[in-house]
Amino acid sequence: MPGFIEQIEPLKQSALAEFQASEDLASLEQARVSCLGSNGKFTALLKQLGALPKEEKPLAGKAINSSKVELEAALARRRNELELKAAFPKEPTDFTLPGRRRIVGKLHPLTQVTEDIVRSFRKIGFVVADGPEVEDDYYCFDALNTPADHPARDSQDTFYLSNSTQAGQSSPYLLRTHTSSVQIRVMEKQAPPVRIIVPGRVYRRDNADATHNPTFHQVEGLYVDRNVTVGDLKGTVEFVFRELMGPETQIRFRPHYFSYTEPSFEIDFSSSLTRKIGKQWLEIAGCGMVHPQVFENVGYDSEEWSGWAFGFGIERIAMIRYGINDIRLFYENDQRFLKQF
Ligand code: DAH
Repeated sequence: MPGFIEQIEPLKQSALAEFQASEDLASLEQARVSCLGSNGKFTALLKQLGALPKEEKPLAGKAINSSKVELEAALARRRNELELKAAFPKEPTDFTLPGRRRIVGKLHPLTQVTEDIVRSFRKIGFVVADGPEVEDDYYCFDALNTPADHPARDSQDTFYLSNSTQAGQSSPYLLRTHTSSVQIRVMEKQAPPVRIIVPGRVYRRDNADATHNPTFHQVEGLYVDRNVTVGDLKGTVEFVFRELMGPETQIRFRPHYFSYTEPSFEIDFSSSLTRKIGKQWLEIAGCGMVHPQVFENVGYDSEEWSGWAFGFGIERIAMIRYGINDIRLFYENDQRFLKQF
C-alpha cells in the first residue's frame, strides 16, 4: 500500500484525463461525481487525511488541497468548453453572411400628410373633431343650407343606404360626401367659440380615374367667434399652406359659390411645386364666411357670431407635394410605391 501522498498524484492524473475525455456535459458531470462527489475517489482520500499521524498532516494536507484546487479549475475549464460546444450550430454555418434585416413599417403617405396638416393647425389652437362616415341627408346637406332640390347636390352624388329609405326614414342614410357635415355636429353640441379641424374619409359617386376615386380624404376647418373676418381666414390658410408647401407659397382667393358660406371663395396657391407641373396657380380648396342660415340651423345667433370654414382634399395635397400623377396609387397598397415615403 503506497503512502498517502503517493496516492494523490495518480488519482489526480486519472481524474484530469477523465475530465478531458468527457465529450458532453452529462459525462463530465459523471466524471465529477466519481472523483469529487461525496462518494468519489478523491473525496475518499481526503477523508483519510484525519487518520494520518500528526507530523505527516501538514504536508499531506497541503498536497491534497492544491490538487483539489487544480481539479476544480480543470473541471470548470472543461465545462466551459463543452457548454460552448453545445451552443454551437449543428449544421455548418457561414458566419460571414450578413444579418437578417428587420423591416420597419412606415406611415401611409396620406397619413403623413394628414399628420402634418393637423400639426400646423394645432400650433394655432385648433383641435381635431370627428364625425360618422355614414351620415344622414340632414347633416350632409340640409343643415348646410343645401336642400334636396338644390343644384349643388348634383356634383356631390353619393351612395345611399337602401334600408334607411325602405324604413321610411325622413332623412336617409348616405356615405358623407364631405367632412362639412362635422361642422354641424360640432356646433350642435358646443357653444361658440369653435376652432376645429376635421380630417376624414369621404365618398362620391365617381368613377375612378387618375384624379378621381369613389372614396378619398378631406380636411375641414371651422372657426367661430365674435368679429371674425375674411382676413383671419386668409391669414390662417396662408400660414398652413406655407408650412405644408414651403415658405415662398402664395395664396389667392377667387370668388365662388358654396351654399353654406357667404361670401365663398376658391383658394389657389402658387409655389415651386405648381411651377414644376407647368402651372402658376393651382386650385386647392374651398372656403368662405359661414352662412347665417347655417348658424341659425344649429341655434347660434348669427347677429352675435361670425366665422369661416374651409375644406380641401388630402390626396390632392399629397399628389402635388410628392409629384404623384395617379390618385389610385394611394389605394393599391403596392409596396414599391409605399416604400418611397
Ligand atoms: N365641402 C366642400 C367640398 O367638398 C369644400 C368646402 C368648401 C368646405 C367651402 C367648406 C367651405 O367648409 O366653406 O368640395
